[in-house]
Amino acid sequence: MSRHLDAEFHVRGTSRYVDDHPRPENMLHLALFGSPVAHGRVRSVDTQAARAADNVVAVFTVDDIPGDPWHGPVVQDEALLAAGEVRYIGQPIALIAATDVDSARRAAALVSVDIEPLEIVTDPRVAHARGDLFGVERTFAQGDVDAVWNTCATIVEGRSELAGQEHVYMETQRARAYPREDGGSQVMASTQGPTMVQKCVARALGVALHRVEIDVTRLGGGFGGKEDNANSIASLAAVAARLTGRPAELVLDRATDMRITGKRHPYSSDYRLGLSESGDILAFEARHYQNAGGYTELSPAVLERTLFTSCNTYNIPNFRVHAACCKTNIVPNTAFRGFGAAQGLWVIECAIHHAAEQLGVAAETLKARNLVHDGDWFPYGQQVAHEHAHMCWDAADTQFDLAATRAAVDAFNADHSHIKKGMAVLPICHGVSFTKIPLNQGQALVHVYQDGSVTLSTGGIEMGQGLSTKLAAIAARAFGLSMERITVQSTNTFRTANMGPSAASATTDLNGNAVLVAAEKIRERVLAFAGQRLGVDAERLAIVDARLTCDGDDADWSWNDLIAQAFLNRINLSDHGFYATPGIAFDPAVEKGQAFAYHVYGTAIFEVAVDCLRGTYEIERIRIAHDMGRPLNEAVDIGQIEGGLIQGIGWMTCEDLRFDAQTGACTTATHASYKVPGVYMVPDDLQIHLLEDPGNSVGPYSSKAVGEPPFLYAPGVYFALREAIRAFNPSGPLPFDAPMTPERTLMQLYAGRIDDMIEARSSPADTTPSA
Ligand code: MTE
Ligand code: HPA
Ligand code: MOS
Repeated sequence: MSRHLDAEFHVRGTSRYVDDHPRPENMLHLALFGSPVAHGRVRSVDTQAARAADNVVAVFTVDDIPGDPWHGPVVQDEALLAAGEVRYIGQPIALIAATDVDSARRAAALVSVDIEPLEIVTDPRVAHARGDLFGVERTFAQGDVDAVWNTCATIVEGRSELAGQEHVYMETQRARAYPREDGGSQVMASTQGPTMVQKCVARALGVALHRVEIDVTRLGGGFGGKEDNANSIASLAAVAARLTGRPAELVLDRATDMRITGKRHPYSSDYRLGLSESGDILAFEARHYQNAGGYTELSPAVLERTLFTSCNTYNIPNFRVHAACCKTNIVPNTAFRGFGAAQGLWVIECAIHHAAEQLGVAAETLKARNLVHDGDWFPYGQQVAHEHAHMCWDAADTQFDLAATRAAVDAFNADHSHIKKGMAVLPICHGVSFTKIPLNQGQALVHVYQDGSVTLSTGGIEMGQGLSTKLAAIAARAFGLSMERITVQSTNTFRTANMGPSAASATTDLNGNAVLVAAEKIRERVLAFAGQRLGVDAERLAIVDARLTCDGDDADWSWNDLIAQAFLNRINLSDHGFYATPGIAFDPAVEKGQAFAYHVYGTAIFEVAVDCLRGTYEIERIRIAHDMGRPLNEAVDIGQIEGGLIQGIGWMTCEDLRFDAQTGACTTATHASYKVPGVYMVPDDLQIHLLEDPGNSVGPYSSKAVGEPPFLYAPGVYFALREAIRAFNPSGPLPFDAPMTPERTLMQLYAGRIDDMIEARSSPADTTPSA
């Protein structure tokens, strides 16, 4: 198995990111001045002092932008530099260009504004009550919930709160722009969506798309944070470059990035779940209040995926879920791994755990009996086409023995009073395809050079997820070559036009299939040429290990010689591949359709131990049965499962993103106040069992998307912790709020039982169990 193509560069420190490219002598450095308040009307901006500061070359405000300052992926409602209203702290108002970065940042602090303050709203429910929404409220429904409530043996109702999440990509937002002779721009950007950046830059400059070149080598992580956030950063750099005639680079320092860029959406939700006597889900109703922040951004698309995932992997015959993007005065929230799916899944899981607690049964028994079967319908009008939900659950059970795990946890808790264990089983289901259908297209340009080496350019972005490695693996297989002969080039708008963003976990499916299309066209031509030369039917020929074979036998012709001859005979050794996912459609007018090419399933088992005196906890074991088709590179895919899982665990446990309700300020915008999971959060025992699934006809070589689905396992850690807390405090109030930080764990261990706490403190602690 080959390793990640970038591994050696990363380890040697030679991988190039935007500002690792040699800096031109005359390059300007940029800094932003942002709004000091979360909501207000800008009366005036005073840039005098900043202009006069040392090494400052120019200071720009919205009126300086040569083209259209308005941008946004769904609605163009935010200006690159504020025009009138400001709706979140840090919203860019002025752009400072200086000969060095420190001077630019110092000068930014000298800008002053006169702002008429407006009322600040941070609570999405308040915004909703006032009708302050982006777009319209949406509802996914099937069956008739109203008709069945009175037939339910059990009904639970509740509310849940979910915090947002900071992306913490290692490379902060940045772009470098070079002015072009024709008024356009050449931009090195850290973006997941070069075409989106190209459009935003072109609009800001007032030029056509063909004058804007966006080039992306790789990202130091994106995680959705560069699906759209990168557009304005690159456009501001391009504007400065155009106006000064000099290359210009905008790099956000970490604190600024954390303070002013959009993050995962916090959600507040209500739910109601009805079960039959035997535990079948009869009805589910929910309402999601998405905290969208100050501008529309990608919120409506994220909201849509929340709706698509609100049933998780359960058959819910009567279902009605409403969701709305609520306009508040925090950063405009955006894509983040899972793209709203985790927030949808979270609520149905809360409801099931709530019902299990009320009934006094293990949640996993309720879950197992309600998993979707072949032939069931998802509420959005797509039929389940196989038994994968059960295959994953059963594999988890067979491999890891759910009953024995449950018995061990219960036995431990019976024996220990101050250390409590908890377990949770979390099945997932993630639809693969952009819910916005036009984005489901991929492209590839493949060149075979005269020496037999091959290069690929596609519409996909390498952001650490291993895309290049997988694309090269696809080309190597298609050509019958080893990976060493393949390179993957930067993603560039002049080599590939009209790309969708690298997102929705679909990048390999879309661009890998396009590579396959292009490579197969070239291979056919080369084999046709060889067949002609050898006087045999090309059907009998193949390339295996870089040698021509005929009916499986070596034909005494190496790939290199074959290519050299093909070139001399004027065979076209380049081609372009295009791929559009077949068979998908969705009609928002009725909220029904075949939205996804396929779904990814899996089942995870979490086990935790909580120290009930301290509120600290350990994630002891996580075992997963995951459905990922036939991996193109198993090590890369396992890396994605582990990475997504741990990133999600951070969101559910230690990453406590907060906004001040009065001021709208993000109060956790530094690494001193925002804790990301470290290596010690990773359980010592982490087992991943891969389900071999030969049935995926959509992914290249039967592979399956893997980038986001594993993130969805993360709520499992919350429910395991909750179970341990309940084992210690069976009756205290325990709201379904995440993240479950150690601080919150401690509070909840003793919620409603202060007297017990005093007693507990005076009794001897039991011994810590050995791991
Ligand atoms: N893995 C790494 N190392 N870095 C990233 O930025 N982004 C995630 C996931 N895994 C990301 C990652 C997100 S949000 C998505 S949508 C997918 O990768 C995108 O890549 P794919 O479509 O190739 O899976
Ligand atoms: N997932 C991720 N990014 C997206 C999507 C999606 O479904 N739609 C638009 N951008
Ligand atoms: Mo991923 S949130 O679709 O970039």
